[in-house]
Amino acid sequence: MSQPFKLEITNIYKDYQLKNGTIFKTLENLNMQIKSGEFVSLIGPSGSGKSTLFNLISGLELPSNGDILLDSQSIINKKGLVSYMPQKDHLLPWRTILENVILGLELAKVPKEEARKRALLFAETFGLKEFMNEYPSALSGGMRQRAALLRTALLNNDVLLLDEPFGALDEITRMHMQQWLLSIWEKLGNTILFVTHSIDEAILLSDRVYVFSARPATVKEIVNIPLSRPRKSTMMVSDEFIKLKKILIELLNDNTE
Ligand SMILES: Nc1ncnc2c1ncn2[C@@H]1O[C@H](COP(=O)(O)OP(=O)(O)OP(=O)(O)O)[C@@H](O)[C@H]1O
Ligand SMILES: [Mg+2]
Repeated sequence: MSQPFKLEITNIYKDYQLKNGTIFKTLENLNMQIKSGEFVSLIGPSGSGKSTLFNLISGLELPSNGDILLDSQSIINKKGLVSYMPQKDHLLPWRTILENVILGLELAKVPKEEARKRALLFAETFGLKEFMNEYPSALSGGMRQRAALLRTALLNNDVLLLDEPFGALDEITRMHMQQWLLSIWEKLGNTILFVTHSIDEAILLSDRVYVFSARPATVKEIVNIPLSRPRKSTMMVSDEFIKLKKILIELLNDNTE
């Protein structure tokens, strides 16, 4: 028997009603099927509905129609079942890094001492050991992203939703963070859904890339990335990589016409 999917998005629609009464269609008949342990990227025009989809999967918003299944169970309107790192890092400036990263655990009612212990166990892996008692202002951009990722990873769910986690980083820090994320993913074995605007990043990290159409977003194409693992930044100049890049550029250009 074939294995059931980890996460299934079936016939999802999301409409917003604007203040003037207009119905604003954001997602339209969206379907996705994600296997356990897969690394899947979502790429599509700005404003197409990628963050909206993450808000639906994490139970923060309700779809207008359709269903979302985690391990074959509907998770519509259910919070806390997937770990979500939103587009902004949302570190609170008045809390230390340790107090920031345990925020999600506190909300999940894990006793504070236990939460601190768990966070400190991971501090070294996330390259934050010396900085756990500092405030966010003492961290570089890359470190802030790692702290936000640690807060998300500590929730210990099988599925991680990462919305442009490296969007604000310079090229060099970004390359380090990509390699680091791949090593964490290989260690933890999570299923990752990753939103990015970078075609290179989507190819380098993913098993598959979902290309979204312009709003209302629907799945325009699914591109398989058959590059071997472990992935290295130098692969980005290989013929195979460039071929995949050409396919994605053509699909994305076609969106804006
Ligand atoms: N609460 C809301 N009310 C009305 N419209 C909304 C609401 N939330 C999102 N939208 C609209 O839905 C569309 C999709 O937004 P979303 O943030 O999901 O896009 P995105 O694909 O993540 O874009 P980006 O790549 O720029 O982050 C946008 O046009 C946005 O204005
Ligand atoms: Mg977004």
